[in-house]
Amino acid sequence: MATVLKEPSRTFNEYLLIPGYSGMDARPENVSLRTPVVRFRKGEEPALSMNIPLTSAVMQAVSDDNMAVALAKEGGISFIFGSQSVESQAAMVRRAKRSKAGFVPSDSNLRPDATLQDVLDLKAEKGHSTIAITEDGTADGKLLGIVTSKDYRVSRMDPATKVTEFMTPFDKMVYGRDGITLSEANDLIWDNKVNQLPIIDDNQRLTAFVFRKDYDSHKEHPLELLDADKRYIVGAGINTRDYEERVPALIDAGVDILTIDSSEGYSEWQAVTLKWIRDNYGDKVKVGAGNVVDADGFNFLADCGADFIKIGIGGGSICITREQKGIGRGQASAVLEVAQARDEYFKKTGVYIPICSDGGIVYDYHMTLALAMGADFIMLGRYFARFDESPSAKLMVNGSYVKEYWGEGSARARNWQRYDMGGDAKLKFEEGVDSYVPYAGSLHDNVQMSLNKVRSTMCNCGSLNIQDFHKNAKLTLVSAVSIVEGGAHDVILKEVNSNSSNGR
Ligand code: IMP
Repeated sequence: MATVLKEPSRTFNEYLLIPGYSGMDARPENVSLRTPVVRFRKGEEPALSMNIPLTSAVMQAVSDDNMAVALAKEGGISFIFGSQSVESQAAMVRRAKRSKAGFVPSDSNLRPDATLQDVLDLKAEKGHSTIAITEDGTADGKLLGIVTSKDYRVSRMDPATKVTEFMTPFDKMVYGRDGITLSEANDLIWDNKVNQLPIIDDNQRLTAFVFRKDYDSHKEHPLELLDADKRYIVGAGINTRDYEERVPALIDAGVDILTIDSSEGYSEWQAVTLKWIRDNYGDKVKVGAGNVVDADGFNFLADCGADFIKIGIGGGSICITREQKGIGRGQASAVLEVAQARDEYFKKTGVYIPICSDGGIVYDYHMTLALAMGADFIMLGRYFARFDESPSAKLMVNGSYVKEYWGEGSARARNWQRYDMGGDAKLKFEEGVDSYVPYAGSLHDNVQMSLNKVRSTMCNCGSLNIQDFHKNAKLTLVSAVSIVEGGAHDVILKEVNSNSSNGR
């Protein structure tokens, strides 16, 4: 007979934290959010930790090289999406690893045959006013000129005007050469009174920009996550099909950590993939696995050698796996059970395997709950998709700015490989939707705000680090009526508040 779990499947919304005693030192500035990312033995230091417990989802609409750099600056890790060719994913990793603090890969590029209208469209989409004109329109093509808002007057010019007629051409530009230090680049910016300095290689190909406004960048990012060579730490997603080709290419590009990206990870496919990595690279290559939602799944992947294990099936905002396939589990129940399994595994073997709560974070306090329930770190898709740094398009819909956000199981994401999927395409079903999310501005401002809330709640609970929080957190289930009590109620709101459930 089938087993039926006694407890219903619960979500973050059904829990609250009960404050604990907090001393006078319990202040947000004293809270450390440093957390291990990969397995380690009792008494040893993990080979990789993060300074904040956030990772960005392995998704086309979320994690590219630009996002990877932005999140590493804050102290977290992006896992660059794997639903693209091996070459283009490796190129993204390479670009992110090449970018040094203060040197930014160009995210707004056009070809010389583009028009003023193309400039205006790109500026609206990316939010940046500096546009590189390269021979092939790529971020590392041969640099022919740049366009900034000083170069055109929208009211006086025909939108069909070619950029070559108004750009600053290469021979009139101030630029730096590859290998220049940040302080030399800044001297050129100040001496020449320019706002940006393109950096080129020996073949006149663009490698990066240094912006005047980023002058104090490293001071603004005290938690940035760097490798031994002061390059940003970068992750990437892999799958259980083409790993023999993809893993070596990503490693060659300099990736620091991998994760097997799958909606359901308690499988022989993951065991075989992990074994192949261990056979070929030993412990040198770090790789997470998942997703699982119970202790059995965790123990299986732990024994297979996963460096960290991801939790979550069906809770993602764009996910329809539960409706389509009837599998999954409320994210809170899944995290609580897997955290207990992780602790038992540690007691039994002396090996600590970090766990990652993946998907389903709606409010900032859900991050705090996931950590309280035992997660070492969190993976988020919708949250990061809303920011300037995500790769998707920013559009105006019904008078508000939105960004596009689509699931990896949606037809849109799967298109990249539609020709080699095999079988009858008509019989494939989708596990994700294509959607919009409200545009929310810069990653830096939002992450600072969200984590200040997390730190503040940890103080209320008397915990100054995540490890203590795991031990000390006291949670309570909430009844349906107390959820109503928790939002603004019995008042007439003057305006819709996005922080209140009434305003969602
Ligand atoms: P979110 O933070 O709630 O938006 O969830 C993001 C997570 O949803 C990702 O990290 C994946 O684990 C999961 N996910 C991404 N795409 C799909 C999909 O198409 N179907 C189901 N789950 C998905």
